[in-house]
Amino acid sequence: MPRELTVGDVARRAGVRVSTLHYYESKGLITSGRNGGNQRRYPRAVLRRVAVIRIAQRAGLSLSEIRQALESLPDGRQPNRRDWRRLSSAWRQSLQDRIENLVKLRDQLESCMGCGCVCFRDCPLHAPDDALPAPGRLAGEHGPG
Ligand code: FES
Repeated sequence: MPRELTVGDVARRAGVRVSTLHYYESKGLITSGRNGGNQRRYPRAVLRRVAVIRIAQRAGLSLSEIRQALESLPDGRQPNRRDWRRLSSAWRQSLQDRIENLVKLRDQLESCMGCGCVCFRDCPLHAPDDALPAPGRLAGEHGPG
């Protein structure tokens, strides 16, 4: 494999669109240099970085969260095996938290199926930390029944 890759090379090897790579670059997730003809050139290690980004996206992390994690690597290096263990461990916990929240939301939805009031005051689907209106402020919101 050559030391430097074109954007097309990276796209093909990583299985992503060229536009995706441009987007990642615009968000600061990957960087490229320029050759004499002012064309983008990426180091080979960008493939590992793109792989990590794709996995993190599949785990539901935002690009901002992924960028922060990658920026935590010393000297902006590409994630090595030890880095990957640390990052994936943190992301696993984040994924677990979201799974638990989704299961809770699913169960609450089931309990609400026969109701339909979606009342701010009584319905468990409204998270407690939502900005709730003061009690009685939105009169008539309780719905029928
Ligand atoms: S819809 Fe949730 S309590 Fe009525």
